[in-house]
This record gives sequence, C-alpha cells and structure tokens, in this order.
Amino acid sequence: MRERQILFSRQQIEAKVKQLGEQIARDYHDKNLLVVGLLKGSFVFVADLMRAIDQKIVIEFMTTSSYHDAEDSTGRVEIVQDFSRDLRDFDVLIVDDIIDSGLTMKSVYELIRSRHPRSLKTCALLDKPSRRKVEFECDYVGFTIEDLFIVGYGLNYGDYYRNVDHIFVFVEENEK
Ligand code: IMP
Ligand code: MG
Repeated sequence: MRERQILFSRQQIEAKVKQLGEQIARDYHDKNLLVVGLLKGSFVFVADLMRAIDQKIVIEFMTTSSYHDAEDSTGRVEIVQDFSRDLRDFDVLIVDDIIDSGLTMKSVYELIRSRHPRSLKTCALLDKPSRRKVEFECDYVGFTIEDLFIVGYGLNYGDYYRNVDHIFVFVEENEK
C-alpha cells in the first residue's frame, strides 16, 4: 500500500513564497524584472510568486523537457517551446519548481545568457543539492531537501497531481 506523507503544507509553502517575493522585490526595486517560468513544473509556483512581488513584472514561459536519467550524465535538455522577446533591456529571473541534477537550470541559464539580458539570476522553490550532476548554485531557494521524489504544487508523478495544493511524498506502508 502506498500512502501520502505531507512534506510541506499549503501554509508552509505560502509563507515561503511570501518571503521569497519580498526578498526579490527588495533586490529588484530599481530593475526591469522579467520572470521566465519553466513549464510545466513551475506554473503554480510562478503564479503565486509573481503576486508576492509587489512591482511591475513581465512574464514569459519556456517549456523544457529533460531526457537524462541516472546513467546519463550528459543530460540533454530540450527547449520544447521558447519565447521571442528581446531580453537586452531586462533583468531576467529564471524560475523553476525544483533543481535536481542541475542540468535544466544550467542549460536554460546558458541559453538565456547568450541573449544578453542586463542581469540574470535563478530561483527555485526546492533544491536537492545532493543530486547534482553539474555544478549549479541557485540565487533564490525556498526549501533545501534530501534526495526524495516529491509531488504536488506543480510537481508531477506520471503527469498527475500537479493540482495538489501541498507537497508530499509517496511512502510504501512497509517503509513506515
Ligand atoms: P534537473 O534538470 O535534473 O535539475 O531536473 C529538473 C526538473 O526535473 C524539474 O524542473 C522538475 O520538473 C523535475 N524534477 C526533479 N525532481 C523532481 C521531483 O522530486 N518531483 C517531481 N519532479 C522533479
Ligand atoms: Mg521541470
């Protein structure tokens, strides 16, 4: 039997998102902020985070898809859908749900950097530093977690559960 164990409640996530939003608003108060959300995973987080940042923001989205697994350290990250805006006048903040191997953030970071934004930083609600395959340090992190597969609040399991308003892990009954 599989059971769900709550890792972060809706209230804990709300408090963290508010804190991140306030910090970003302080750091970007005199900047021209453009948020790039990475789909699909970040859509719930981006929607809450952008409303926690009390200033003018431009939003763009990119859909990424990764084809890396435990054996594949080269990790191909495909940009399934891109946006076309000129970034040279913007201070860009890339936002993802979670950083795992670091391959997604690193490759998107390098792609966006090649488009010469005024400045470039990254933000993730969750970070699993023990899983890194490439060196990557995120500028704004909500929660740092162990090597767990987590679900909910935009994060999927077999493309389901993105709509769950909290973050949980599946545990086998006999593992408890
Ligand atoms: P990375 O490229 O290995 O850093 O993986 C990043 C992407 O993998 C994230 O954007 C997520 O979509 C997905 N991902 C990584 N860990 C988890 C998890 O624990 N649950 C659900 N999705 C995850
Ligand atoms: Mg993702």
